[in-house]
Amino acid sequence: EIGKTTMQLGTLKAGDEIKDVIGPLGIPSHVEKIGTVVCIGGGLGIAPLYPISRAFKEAGNRVISIIGARSENLLFWENELKSSSDELLVCTNDGSKGTKGLVTDVLKEVMAKEKIELVFAIGPSIMMKVVAEATRPAGVKTIVSLNPVMMDGTGMCGACRVSVDGTTKFACVDGPDFDAHLVDFDLLMARQKMFLSEEKKSAELYLEKCKACSEN
Ligand code: FES
Repeated sequence: EIGKTTMQLGTLKAGDEIKDVIGPLGIPSHVEKIGTVVCIGGGLGIAPLYPISRAFKEAGNRVISIIGARSENLLFWENELKSSSDELLVCTNDGSKGTKGLVTDVLKEVMAKEKIELVFAIGPSIMMKVVAEATRPAGVKTIVSLNPVMMDGTGMCGACRVSVDGTTKFACVDGPDFDAHLVDFDLLMARQKMFLSEEKKSAELYLEKCKACSEN
């Protein structure tokens, strides 16, 4: 829970309801038989990575999955990823589980050992940027799933605009997957911070309201 909406979601219990859910939105991930695919999930990116790694495996690829988090307690779905991969490599920043280091450290070791046809990475923007820089010199095709601020999710508001190969794209309808080597990650990261003060104010107001309710 990092903001008002996730705090509200956090109050739900099993069996509670959300009024409306729309989706799936955007373009489904392109999956094909290509050879050896490295699937990388960082933090919460592990969740959307799982069905993608499973689809690549089902399509007949050799799948090596790398998952990473700051610490062991933030890792999840190891068994799921194990079942969808030929090999699962785990790393943590603090070394509490698996290799101590970043997913890119592990990726570089894998790339030194075998030929990789495709890298698919989902996680924090900075992680995806570093993955793109790690694969660029070797020319390994790399796809990232972008996570800009989204509002309507249907291509109308423009909040999710990203720059890909110098062209403006809307991640909600044109993505979320894009060629990592063409993405302007610095712009993406700057735009992700655009509403920070409003988000902070909204969370504060929500917490004040919760406090007032619990006092009355
Ligand atoms: Fe509004 Fe993509 S979220 S255009």
